[in-house]
Amino acid sequence: MSVTVRVPAKVNVQLAVGGARPDGFHDLANVFLAVGLYDEVTATPADSLRVTCEGPDAARVPLDRTNLAARAAEKLAARYGRRADVHLHIAKDIPVAGGMAGGSADGAGALLACDALWGTGASREELLDICAELGSDVPFSLVGGAALGTGRGERLRVLEVGGTFHWVFALADGGLSTPAVYGEFDRLTAGARVPEPAASDEVLKALAAGDAAGLAAAVSNDLQAAALSLRPSLASTLAVGGGAGALASLVSGSGPTTAFLVQDAGAARKVAEALVGSGTCRAVRVAAGPVPGAVVL
Ligand code: C5P
Repeated sequence: MSVTVRVPAKVNVQLAVGGARPDGFHDLANVFLAVGLYDEVTATPADSLRVTCEGPDAARVPLDRTNLAARAAEKLAARYGRRADVHLHIAKDIPVAGGMAGGSADGAGALLACDALWGTGASREELLDICAELGSDVPFSLVGGAALGTGRGERLRVLEVGGTFHWVFALADGGLSTPAVYGEFDRLTAGARVPEPAASDEVLKALAAGDAAGLAAAVSNDLQAAALSLRPSLASTLAVGGGAGALASLVSGSGPTTAFLVQDAGAARKVAEALVGSGTCRAVRVAAGPVPGAVVL
């Protein structure tokens, strides 16, 4: 018997970052939107904890205990006084270290899969607590849809969304380390007064109305300058999407994936073609959101 869970990627339609806290984390106003690019995590009983991975980026996924899927299984097992004797297989489609919460998706997926496999009967609150221990973006991977994350991003308020938003994503060569991007943010803002992060009314209104042009005018990512500083070539990718008619072009989370908000599926095809033809990225994906969070298949 085995259990498979499907978990979406995310894009941040607003990522407002405050100054570094004493614990090294940053307070955020983080508006997440789950989009239809998915990892699947399958949990099967085994003699001991083992992680395997398939997919174009599989070679870059750590298969040891640093993998968030393995850590999720260990945390749930510890809480319920049992052994994490499970084989976790990840079918990976979300870019690795791409700023789309791929690792977080695998953590949330493994947690839900093991919970179902082991019949722990953990409450939603317990699962969300474990997610928050695993990482700042992991609770959102479980919840999906759209949400405002505060604190370090783990405290979620579910947001209403009045329509479907169409996106094109340009995958870059290699990944960017999230701590390195936050470190670059600290370097770039050193000596400046970093305002308290706050959710943008315009972003929330445009989401609620399903208004792509309104959302495009309001999106922002305070990590974008840091990601571009570490990876200047992303500027040309952003320019190609803008030139091909994207309503908004931005770095997804800590990057290096770039995200292009478009009006509809037709516009998505045009922007995707331009990006593929430009040679400024490794691969291009089209996806829409919001979509539900982690679900048992
Ligand atoms: O929470 P998570 O493990 O995903 O965070 C990875 C790293 O990103 C942290 O170690 C920290 O360097 C940085 N981070 C941060 N502020 C946040 C979230 C993450 O500085 N709110």
